[in-house]
Amino acid sequence: MLRSRVWLIVAAALIVLALLVVIGNAAVVRTNPPVTYTITWDSPETEALARAACFDCHSHETRWPWYAHIAPAAFLIVQDVNEGRKAMNFSTGHKLEGDEMVEQIESGRMPKPIYLPLHPEANLSAEQKSRLMAGLLATFGQEKDERGWQEEDEPEDEDED
Ligand code: HEC
Repeated sequence: MLRSRVWLIVAAALIVLALLVVIGNAAVVRTNPPVTYTITWDSPETEALARAACFDCHSHETRWPWYAHIAPAAFLIVQDVNEGRKAMNFSTGHKLEGDEMVEQIESGRMPKPIYLPLHPEANLSAEQKSRLMAGLLATFGQEKDERGWQEEDEPEDEDED
């Protein structure tokens, strides 16, 4: 009796999980469009730190985790990535402003705190943060277009809204 109830619960849980996977995959689009902009990094370390802490939400090289396939996490993750790419995109050159990046890191707004528990590699030490900030400033400068970057004006999110 008890055993069969346990199995019933397990079976129900599996069905719910399967449904959430189906919903998570049907309802959202996880894209990684082509990279169209080449960054000249000031150092390999800056690139490595930015890739570890920023690229999942601000590039077309998102490493989609397995739980990005399961509702409701799928919705939250896809939304963060879509909004992140709209705000700034390392893969297209969109809004790459060093001082703005530094401000976000210094204030603790970026990388988004919600992202950190499952991405320990993005949880930078104080020293890594200051090296990343110096590197971002050296790479992307203080002022927009100061060094004549080609900002490709992306059509704002045609497909997703
Ligand atoms: C988990 C996803 C995520 C990560 C990781 C992340 N960002 Fe963001 N970022 C966003 C989203 C979403 C927005 C737009 C909405 C907002 O400002 O919260 C954004 C906005 C920004 C903006 C624009 C802010 C503004 O007000 O215009 C900058 C600059 C930025 N991020 C820099 C960074 C840097 C630098 C890193 C790495 C150190 C980083 N982000 C990591 C999701 C992320």
